[in-house]
Amino acid sequence: MAFENIKVTNQYKDKVALIELNRPGAMNALNRELMTELKDALHQLDEDENVRVIVLTGNEKAFAAGADIKQMADSGAIDMLKVDQFATWDQIKKTKKPIIAAVSGFALGGGCELSMTCDMIVASETARFGQPEITIGTMPGAGGTQRLTRAVGKARAMEMVLTGKFISGEEAQEAGLINKVVPVEVYLDEAVKCAEKVAEMSPVAARLAKESVLKAFDTPLEEGLQFERKNFYMTFASEDQKEGMKAFIEKRKPDFKGD
Ligand code: HXC
Repeated sequence: MAFENIKVTNQYKDKVALIELNRPGAMNALNRELMTELKDALHQLDEDENVRVIVLTGNEKAFAAGADIKQMADSGAIDMLKVDQFATWDQIKKTKKPIIAAVSGFALGGGCELSMTCDMIVASETARFGQPEITIGTMPGAGGTQRLTRAVGKARAMEMVLTGKFISGEEAQEAGLINKVVPVEVYLDEAVKCAEKVAEMSPVAARLAKESVLKAFDTPLEEGLQFERKNFYMTFASEDQKEGMKAFIEKRKPDFKGD
């Protein structure tokens, strides 16, 4: 598949794919074309048996500075409704394989929301996370009032959403929004290292575990626990579970095949 707004490397490292947002002249603003390509690429990688984990990144200056303001500036509510850009976001969120965001520079508005749609975030010391939609007369629309609030709590989320204040990588880590903050020279390498670690695990278990963690966001505890239990039982139908436990007993490294 040919892409114009993103670059996709299926085998960036063994079992690890890399997607780079690629609109450097517009701070990787997420226009509709880019989002459609991203959805298609994630679907393709989800189907690729040689890929276990996906790293999503931008460039050093910007992960993404939000939805494309120029593209939506003159839209009416009904235009927005008809375009239904969130159908694309809904597909992205269904990706079964773990996605790790490698964030440097600006992750604003839809860019911050896109990073929060990923499963883990590794950021550079120069990263700036924010939901500045209020400063242009609108508000977050792809999870900024929901995922951010769940991650950092009401006080910080309200401040970011109501004043447009950015937070640094360090603050984001301290607030629990991201996993790790590292020097800018190594943020991509660190994200890839994290992806390689996950890629060593059973992909069956990783898929079921990701699904279970995400379930915690939209179920009451008892229902979430029941869901978790079923997925836990399901891992016992896999060859990988047999291999993992046998390898432990035999004191060797497991070789997970994804069966
Ligand atoms: C379109 C954008 C853009 C955006 C930057 N650019 N952000 N174009 N949409 N979101 C373009 C600029 O117009 C400019 O193009 C070029 O990228 C470089 O940006 P500058 O502003 O010149 O750079 P700088 O002074 O370094 O400032 C960087 C910045 C600023 C702080 C990131 O660009 C900024 O505030 N951007 C907007 C952030 C924002 O409000 N995001 C929320 C969007 S709404 P030219 O052609 O002039 O060189 C949103 C809603 C999501 O995300 C809803 C769900 C999808």
